[in-house]
Amino acid sequence: MIIYLDRRALTVPDGVTVAAAVAGSGDDTTRVSCTGAERAPFCGLGICQDCRMTIDGRRRLACQTLCREGMQVERTR
Ligand code: FES
Repeated sequence: MIIYLDRRALTVPDGVTVAAAVAGSGDDTTRVSCTGAERAPFCGLGICQDCRMTIDGRRRLACQTLCREGMQVERTR
């Protein structure tokens, strides 16, 4: 299936989370902290919040969200 990561098409396997898709893109950055540090998924359990991204216009946890065809995913900068 195809999702759009920062407006670029990305082909991902069915059944993967957005966090896995982002990791497979070659740059696992999901957001930038208030101090400017790049963050990436850490716990994979919905606890650390480091995977928070804008997914279809809403802030969501990438590790808790399955990819859907045509999904728009943006790194939070
Ligand atoms: S990786 Fe920790 S909340 Fe998603």
